[in-house]
Amino acid sequence: MQLKKDIVMSGIRPTGFLHLGNYFGAVRNYVRMQEEYQCFFMVADLHSLTTHPDTQDLRQHVSRVIAENIACGLDPDKVALYCQSHVRETAELYLYLNMLAYMGELEKTTTFKDKARLQPDNVNAGLLTYPVLMTADIILHRASLVPVGKDQEQHLEMARNFVKRFNHRYGEVFPEPAAFNFGEDLLKVPSLDGSGKMSKSENQLATLYLADDDEMIRKKVMKSKTDSGPLSPGTPMPDFIENLFLLMKLVSAPEVIDHFKGTYQACTIRYGDMKKQLAEDMVAFIGPIRERAERIRNDSSYLRQVMEQGAEKARASARETMLAVREAMGLNYY
Ligand code: TRP
Repeated sequence: MQLKKDIVMSGIRPTGFLHLGNYFGAVRNYVRMQEEYQCFFMVADLHSLTTHPDTQDLRQHVSRVIAENIACGLDPDKVALYCQSHVRETAELYLYLNMLAYMGELEKTTTFKDKARLQPDNVNAGLLTYPVLMTADIILHRASLVPVGKDQEQHLEMARNFVKRFNHRYGEVFPEPAAFNFGEDLLKVPSLDGSGKMSKSENQLATLYLADDDEMIRKKVMKSKTDSGPLSPGTPMPDFIENLFLLMKLVSAPEVIDHFKGTYQACTIRYGDMKKQLAEDMVAFIGPIRERAERIRNDSSYLRQVMEQGAEKARASARETMLAVREAMGLNYY
């Protein structure tokens, strides 16, 4: 007997470009999950309206996100890859859940406070109920596993509270969703300037984007921070050098890493050579992804077909859940 697969659901913000940190921290995990779980991966275009009310660039961002995720190995035939705005049931469930969410808890949410501070002239109600919408996304498919980073943990905790409240008041309809990262710690991808990890907003020259061309990749890697090298054996490795080795570990062959580790220990390491090697290995890794993404992004009929196919799958699952929701809530008068 085939056991029913656990359901995985996650949302991807359609802002900015995917970078190496997103790839190793998130997308690569999605690609592995698609083999073992029933997966729903959604472009959170409605969420972006809470901070970016101007929709002019939205289409382009949505296309880019979809293209980049497919280029990284997400298979639209294996998962439901769809846009939030294409599944209208989301709005209905969001409305019901809003009656179960309290002002007090919403106002205390860290991301709400941060965003309210960043956009004091636009502290809209959607910003306040962001976690409610996110809950609707997840439980619309009765998903129990949610691959997200640390920054989303508070939202997930709120989702569990809303689910408990719903189930308690109207009957058991939803499983409680939990963060899920394939049983491993998320890989941190260090930035190239020796401080923190790669991120969308901070130093763009220290972040490798999947859309960077070969020359840009080389330039960024060659500019990364080094020093004149160890002078005596046993010198502890500075953070920024350790970071270069961490980056190598992501894309270079084990023999290559061993070689440079050996020269570090022997105090004969030439960081210029190491960076050249790292740059070429990064080019070999990112180049094909970038080219695939470009091809997909320029194929609007394929993109459209992917979105339609994804929306169909997501709607089928949403419809089923909403029947159960309306029935549990006693909203099925006919
Ligand atoms: N809030 C998430 C983020 O900022 C995106 C998101 C929207 C999401 N809906 C979701 C994540 C549902 C997981 C599940 O990254």
